[in-house]
Amino acid sequence: MTMPKTEGASGFGSGYTPEQFSRALGQLEAWARGYIQSLPERAVDQHPAPGETLARLDAHPPQIGEGMALWDRAGDELRSTIEPGLVHWQSPNFFAYFPCSSSLPGVMGELASAVLNVNGMLWSTSPSATELEMRVLDWCAELFGLPEQFRFDAPGSKGGGCIQGTASEGVLAALCAARKRMVDTGRDRSSMCIYTSDQAHSSIVKAAMVAGLADGPDDRSRVRLIPTDSMLRMDVTALLDAIKQDQFSGLTPCMVSTTQGTTSTGAFDPLGRIGEHLSGMPESKRPWLHVDAAWAGVAAVCEEHRRVLDGVQHADSLCINPHKWMMTNFDCDLFWVRDRVALTSAMSITPAYLRNEQSDSGQVLDYRDWHVPLGRSMRALKLWWVIRYFGRDGLAAHIRQHERLAWRFEQYVENEPRLRLVFERTLGLVCFVVQGDDDRTRRLIETVNRRGRVMVSHTRVPIGSETRWVARVAVGSSFASEQSIGRLIEEIDAVLPEVVE
Ligand SMILES: Cc1ncc(COP(=O)(O)O)c(C=O)c1O
Repeated sequence: MTMPKTEGASGFGSGYTPEQFSRALGQLEAWARGYIQSLPERAVDQHPAPGETLARLDAHPPQIGEGMALWDRAGDELRSTIEPGLVHWQSPNFFAYFPCSSSLPGVMGELASAVLNVNGMLWSTSPSATELEMRVLDWCAELFGLPEQFRFDAPGSKGGGCIQGTASEGVLAALCAARKRMVDTGRDRSSMCIYTSDQAHSSIVKAAMVAGLADGPDDRSRVRLIPTDSMLRMDVTALLDAIKQDQFSGLTPCMVSTTQGTTSTGAFDPLGRIGEHLSGMPESKRPWLHVDAAWAGVAAVCEEHRRVLDGVQHADSLCINPHKWMMTNFDCDLFWVRDRVALTSAMSITPAYLRNEQSDSGQVLDYRDWHVPLGRSMRALKLWWVIRYFGRDGLAAHIRQHERLAWRFEQYVENEPRLRLVFERTLGLVCFVVQGDDDRTRRLIETVNRRGRVMVSHTRVPIGSETRWVARVAVGSSFASEQSIGRLIEEIDAVLPEVVE
C-alpha cells in the first residue's frame, strides 16, 4: 500500500484555530455592517446582464490556496464581484414574491449551526439536534394554535413535526405518505390522483411530477386542478364531483392539497368544509389532506388571525414557512403530520451502516425518515433563537406591523383613481391593477422595477371573464418601514403618468 501524497497540503491545515475564526469573523463583520447599513438606499436590483458575474470570476480554481489572506479581500470582493449581481432580498424596499425575512437571532442561529456542522440524520448522530427540533416544532404548534394531533408532547398523539428545507419538499413527502397509505389498502400505484386548486402553488404539480403521477406540468391524467370561485378559492362542489368521478372510473383519489393563502392573491380555500367532507368518507377511501399554509400560516401567531388555519384539525399534514414571514433565515419549512408512521413507512430505509441500538429500541425518532435527504443540518437552532428573542408577543407585533404597512399602501391604491384594488388585502399582500387596458399594469410593474428603487412582482389571474396582469405588493422584509412604503408610493406616482398616457 502506498502512502497518500502529502505535497500540496497548505501550511495552515484544513481545520481552523479559534484565533483564525475570530479574525475571519471580524473581517467579515466589517463587510456585514456596511451591507446592512447600505440596504435602505441601494438599488434593490441593478439588472445585470447575463454573464456579468461570470465575467468577474476567475475561470479556473486556484492551485495554491489563499489561506487567511482570503479574509483580507473577502469583504471588498463581495462588494465588487458578488453584490452587483444580487437582488437585495433583505432591502426594506423589496416587496416582490413573498420576501424571505431574516433577523439577528436567525443569522446567529445559522452561524452557530455552521460552526457545529452536525449531521442530525439519526437521533444517535446528535441527540440534541433531534430533540431540539422536536421541542421547537411543538413550540410552533402551540404558537400557531394547532390541534394536539400534530404535537409530540400531547398524550396519545401519533403526530409531530420536522423542519424541511422548503414547502415543495414538504408536499412531496406528503404525497409519498398519501400514496403509501393507499397502496397499503391494496390500491394500484398507477391509479393515484391528486387534487388541488387552479390557484395552488406550482410545487404541488411538481411533487406529482417527481413522484411519477404526472409526465410534465400539463399532464392532467392524474392531476386535477379544481376551478376556483370569484375570490379564487377552491370550489368544493367541483372538488367532490371530481373525486366521485375518479372513484367511479376506478381511479384512486390519493391526496387533496388546499392552500391557505395562495401565492398569487392570498386566497384561502374552504378548508373546514373540504375537511368535513373528506372526514365523512370511509377510512380506506379517504384521500390524504395536505394543507399548504407556507406564507400565511405564521399569521396564526396573532389571536385575531387564528382563522387562517380554520379546519386544520382535519388535515393529515400541514406546512408553514418561517423563512417567508417569521424572521427565520432561509431555509426553514415546518412540516407536521397527524400520523408519523404513515410518513416514515413511506420514507424509511435502513442500510447496515445506519443501524444502531437506539433506533432499534424504538424509543427515539430519526428525522432522516421524514424527508428525501438523509443528512440534515441543525436548522432548529435558528428557529429556537428567533422564538426566544422575540417571544410570542414580538412575533405577533411583527405580523401586525407589516399588516399596518400593507394597509397604508392599500389606502393609497384606494385613493388613487388610476389604480384599482382587485382583491381585498390579505394580511401583508396587496393586489392591484392600473385602470384601463390590461397592458398598463404590466408596464407599471416593469417600469417601477427597472428604476430599481423598489421591487414588486406580478401575477396573472382570472378577474371576471378575463385573465389579467395583477401587481403584487407583499410586505414581508424584516426591514420594511413607513419610509419604504413611502418610497414605494413615490415610485408608483412617478411612473403612473408615463404608464397611463
Ligand atoms: C403558498 C405557497 N406554497 C408553496 C410555496 C413554495 O415554497 P418553497 O420555496 O418553500 O418550496 C410558496 C412559495 O412562495 C407559496 O407561496
